[in-house]
Amino acid sequence: MQPSHPLSQQCVTTILEQIAKELEAFYAYQALACHFAHPDVAMFNVAKYFYAMAAEEVDHSKKFQDYLIMRGIKPTFRDLKAFNTDKNLTLQQAFELALRFEQAVFTSVRVIHNAADESGDAHLAMFLEDVFYEDQLHAEQELNGYLTVIKRLGSGVGEFLFDRDGLTAK
Ligand SMILES: [Fe+2]
Repeated sequence: MQPSHPLSQQCVTTILEQIAKELEAFYAYQALACHFAHPDVAMFNVAKYFYAMAAEEVDHSKKFQDYLIMRGIKPTFRDLKAFNTDKNLTLQQAFELALRFEQAVFTSVRVIHNAADESGDAHLAMFLEDVFYEDQLHAEQELNGYLTVIKRLGSGVGEFLFDRDGLTAK
């Protein structure tokens, strides 16, 4: 099948990289969820939050896969980078990590957008703006808000309170 408006090679390459990055984010959130679900840490609502974040990343990756298929390209997959947490990882460090993931993901979405602009691919640019820009900015806002609360509450009982009452978004 030859699509009427083929994706440029640069667009395909950057989208394939994004598919892997979203799946690596899944790995990372899954590892964070397991960390907080473990009885030594026992912050079960935080674990639930990161499991939900992990599921979202799989969904993001699928959206890019579906987009490639719609444009006549079969997705290919590269090896994923492993992610594991240190047993002493704190609540604040976990949310700081999550914020950095989301910022890195947004940066790479903009790399795809640049490739779309260079090849005059309005449809890809629109897809990125409609589906991902809003989502990414919202995720960053949410994580920044949680970090403010986590810092305000402090460690110990503060972490217990955050786990019990702090997570309002998911
Ligand atoms: Fe994502």
